[in-house]
Amino acid sequence: TNMFCKSKESYKYYSELKTAASVSSEHIGQQFPNLFYIKFHRQTTETGDGIEEPIFIRDKYSKGITFGTFDLFHYGHNNILARCKNFCNYLYIGLSSDELNERKGKNSVDNYEKRKEVIECANLGDEIFKEESLEQKNDYVIQTGAEILMMGDDWIGAFDWVSCDVLYMERTPNISTTLLKTMMKILPQEV
Ligand code: CTP
Repeated sequence: TNMFCKSKESYKYYSELKTAASVSSEHIGQQFPNLFYIKFHRQTTETGDGIEEPIFIRDKYSKGITFGTFDLFHYGHNNILARCKNFCNYLYIGLSSDELNERKGKNSVDNYEKRKEVIECANLGDEIFKEESLEQKNDYVIQTGAEILMMGDDWIGAFDWVSCDVLYMERTPNISTTLLKTMMKILPQEV
């Protein structure tokens, strides 16, 4: 899975592990791409001669968060939520309110309750809450205690300002709500 992290150092670490993995899977226990739950967390250890050495801890995050409209839920949505879930033990999904969609000029086909119900059926998140405003991203991060915010790579760089780690993951190609909406318009009306 392609991923982009807020910290260059973490990304370098990830790439190095990936190279090591192609030589020996022993080093990290698993072959890529299965290893997509790295906690990019630095900790320093005292070496014998008193020099502090950084080491990376590799672990799942305990809480993660993602956001979206998830209108006309499709396999791209399912795919990203499944990957988010692989990075954390507890996944919060900030589902945009109908008012927020309207403000963005992107009215959803399904209303908030319907979109929420469909995500619940997919059973990939642990808690769904209403996202009322884009600017409040960091407030949601703080309120939930999320340690990582995950989004599709159409958002690269957009949320680097939040206080937790950020990960942008590759979008699933050739599917989007926009595409589905377009297709709905060209199909004949229901009889
Ligand atoms: N997403 C994805 N792959 C897709 C479509 C969406 O990984 N093919 C991700 C987005 O990057 C985002 C989340 O799913 O992190 C919710 O995206 P949303 O905007 O609700 O869905 P889109 O299909 O992108 O909707 P639109 O066409 O209206 O932009």
